[in-house]
Amino acid sequence: MIKKCLFPAAGYGTRFLPVTKATPKEMLPILTKPLIQYGVEEAVEAGIKTMAIVTGRGKRAIEDHFDISYELEHQIKGGSKEPLLDEIRSLISKCTFSYTRQIEMKGLGHAILTGETLIGNEPFAVILADDLCYSQDSVLSQMVEVYKKYNCSIVAIEEVPMEDTNKYGVIAGKLVDGTDDTYRVYDMVEKPEPKDAPTNLAIIGRYILTPDIFDILRDTKAGKGGEIQITDALLEQAKRGKVIAFKFKGKRFDCGSVDGFVDATNFFYGKES
Ligand code: UTP
Repeated sequence: MIKKCLFPAAGYGTRFLPVTKATPKEMLPILTKPLIQYGVEEAVEAGIKTMAIVTGRGKRAIEDHFDISYELEHQIKGGSKEPLLDEIRSLISKCTFSYTRQIEMKGLGHAILTGETLIGNEPFAVILADDLCYSQDSVLSQMVEVYKKYNCSIVAIEEVPMEDTNKYGVIAGKLVDGTDDTYRVYDMVEKPEPKDAPTNLAIIGRYILTPDIFDILRDTKAGKGGEIQITDALLEQAKRGKVIAFKFKGKRFDCGSVDGFVDATNFFYGKES
């Protein structure tokens, strides 16, 4: 039902300078896999095979990662290291990868609008690879189930400490259908100071969006930080009762920050050893 997943991956990743000067943030590894590979694996688990990636200057390593390296294949063929390529080979064989470039980094909303050419007129998933999620059923799979029920845009949320609301889009909503994890959203604010935040329910980097979001984004003016914000566009849908916020089951690591990146590394290392 959701066939395509968009990965906005054009941001500068300034919190990781200097490494992000010439290396895409999405290619930073948690153990031996780059962040974006975890994201693609999550999309595949949710039944999605068409990956649409919004890149920018200096991001070509992402394209190379989801391609064959003939020299390498030749070099390690039949050797003990060959199984290390099993996972990525399997992803490449299952999925298609298409790319478009965001020329000017005008914000996440603008990056999503840039992806329209790859998505077309159908509902689609969005993964921000720097939010790394771990759960029994992948977060996106959980969200696809919610989408099937409500047929509108879905955002993944989690409770954050009140003092952190200024790092996130924050929602206000009403629990629906006697659930304790699913809200009909009536308000959204981008990065509010704690005193202005309607709740501590923060949007994390997983969305399912209906394609009318593109027309709304075209009309969305630059907001917080001078960037075109997806939160502002979603608020337009929310005013029509067309946004559901879903408190997913699982863990999320903010790998766009050094602390979150270290936490994720320790967590995944602990799981493997
Ligand atoms: P972030 O604000 O977390 O990423 O954007 P950033 O700008 O790369 O990082 P810092 O804050 O400078 O360290 C959230 C997501 O939106 C994408 C980023 O790549 C990231 O996945 N993004 C953001 C774009 O693709 N284009 C933009 O213009 C802005």
